Amino acid sequence: MIRSVVRGIGSALPRRIMRNADFEGIVETSDEWIAQRTGIRQRHIAGEGETTASLGEAAARAALDNAGLTPDDIDLIVVATSTPDNTFPATAVDIQNRLGMRHGFAFDLQAVCSGFVYAITTADLYIKGGLARRVLVIGAETFSRILDWTDRSTCVLFGDGAGALILEAEESEGRVSDRGIIASSLRSDGAHKDKLFVDGGPGTSGTVGHLRMEGREVFKHAVGMIADVIEDTYAKAAITSEDIDWFVPHQANKRIIDASAKKLGIAEGKVVTTVQLHGNTSAASVPLALSVAVADGRIQKGDLVLLEAMGGGFTWGAVLVRW
Ligand code: UT7
Repeated sequence: MIRSVVRGIGSALPRRIMRNADFEGIVETSDEWIAQRTGIRQRHIAGEGETTASLGEAAARAALDNAGLTPDDIDLIVVATSTPDNTFPATAVDIQNRLGMRHGFAFDLQAVCSGFVYAITTADLYIKGGLARRVLVIGAETFSRILDWTDRSTCVLFGDGAGALILEAEESEGRVSDRGIIASSLRSDGAHKDKLFVDGGPGTSGTVGHLRMEGREVFKHAVGMIADVIEDTYAKAAITSEDIDWFVPHQANKRIIDASAKKLGIAEGKVVTTVQLHGNTSAASVPLALSVAVADGRIQKGDLVLLEAMGGGFTWGAVLVRW
């Protein structure tokens, strides 16, 4: 059988870092409140000339370098984003052009914070279906540009950035011990669409709109939904939390991450947490966290890595990959 194996990884962050204390002059908040309630200490905010496509391109180039590949080797680019540079064309084709790629195909995928988990699963199916051999999967966001900077309940939570992964088709025996994507589980439920949304768009207001969230409502559902898809993924692969080497969750709130790991019985030392550094970067959060844990040597070839995300829609999902 064919497996989609990780060939390279890269990331990119805006130059400007905004620390919690920097919000104290903008809205009524404090470093203490933000750190205690979310675990966030700082986030990167895109400046002039930095956009979703420019960050995505930088992450893609880093992943190509890491893999020892060039854009010529890529067949498909999938970009997970809810903050495209333009309503259309897709940010993915902009990145394709920036990379000088005149072949293959590229498209965006929108599942908000679950975008990367959806994108990696989509790329896996394109590879298994024979439509692509090597796929660049990118999560790239500039959420700072859709925040209401007068709303303290949301503006302190998000940051900008991008992460990229290259998946490659490889012949496999299909065992859990073999490298590549082993199992995925995706869910959505539009009944929750008004709990985390943007109050504008081309089909309604004709404007971009601002992010709105009932934080407590999202929090209430998050841990149970995350646990459900992870348990489904475990069942598909016939494994348990004991078998996991690294848990790389969506980075929205440290309290959600800790509660999910506890509910699933995943040991604290196996959890990769980067929310303190990046804030919530939506579809970029999982590949950014992966990049950190690969760069510092925690995630090694052959490790069993569990990815998870939950966000607007609601959408949620989990992916199990042998690195
Ligand atoms: O990535 C997509 C998924 N998104 C998430 O997973 C986010 C999920 N939700 C959360 O992470 C949390 O609900 C928040 C971090 C958004 C909020 O934490 P919370 O513990 O649920 O706080 P809360 O919304 O219940 O608010 C508690 C208090 C309120 O004041 P009162 O009503 O108790 O007087 C808020 O007005 O904290 C107040 N508050 C703030 N205070 C200082 C809200 N935002 C702030 C702030 N600074 N920035």
